[in-house]
Amino acid sequence: MDELLQTARALLARCARVAAFSGAGLSAESGLSTFRDPDPDALWSRFDPTELASVAGFEADPERVIEWYNWRRGRHAEVRPNPAHFALAAQSRLVQITQNVDSLLEQAGADPERVYHLHGSILQDRCHNPDCAYIEIVDMQGPPPLRACPRCGDRLRPAVVWFGEALPASTWRKAEALCRQLDCLLVVGTSATVYPAAGLIELARAHGSRVIVVDPNPGAAGDLADVFLAGAAGQVLPALLEGFDLESPL
Ligand code: APR
Repeated sequence: MDELLQTARALLARCARVAAFSGAGLSAESGLSTFRDPDPDALWSRFDPTELASVAGFEADPERVIEWYNWRRGRHAEVRPNPAHFALAAQSRLVQITQNVDSLLEQAGADPERVYHLHGSILQDRCHNPDCAYIEIVDMQGPPPLRACPRCGDRLRPAVVWFGEALPASTWRKAEALCRQLDCLLVVGTSATVYPAAGLIELARAHGSRVIVVDPNPGAAGDLADVFLAGAAGQVLPALLEGFDLESPL
């Protein structure tokens, strides 16, 4: 690992335009389950995403979906950022493109303007009616049960992106534009299997970017790596990023 770590650091030292792209693995060491990990705790090994993370599932049983997200919110309220979040947040001029709906990067000090949440935020509820823009922050310690939108009467649901739903348009546009102008994309803790988000790695490569991947398991992202660092983000990122002041083109 040491040699590969030095190779990755030498690569980063030559890169003026860098960004980070992360997934559930970034928050695993904080105690949040990933989705597809080969471990029994992985959410989609225990729960059916078509029932709990889709519009059809919500419309079939909205109470159950809200209960499930409120259970997750309870977990989120208990956890804290891990060394990987702090190592990334310390790169204050770096943009963090993340699939994560938690706020651990921001809790670690990252500038919220530089954290692009492609799959929304579990800290907010929004109206299910696509024509109603009502949104509110949720008390993560005591999230409310299913309720009606105070503006239009439709149901409120977590402000996350469910399977089959579009990503937030302006955030996606910013992430795409950024990935077209990078020297290096740092990919952390994603299986890179969920599109369109996973497509950002190929997009960056197609525009000349190098790719460094940090993950205990190679997976799809590993296949796209110029340097693959096989390890836990909380252990690898502090050593990888130490002493750098990386910047993203904005
Ligand atoms: N450090 C780094 N990576 C880790 C760690 C760790 N400590 N622990 C696990 N991983 C890696 C796994 O090896 C795997 O490659 O994190 C990845 C997690 O992959 P997924 O569970 O598929 O999560 P992600 O890629 O973020 O999922 C994408 O799918 O379910 C939807 O909307 C949800 O945003 C999510 C999207």
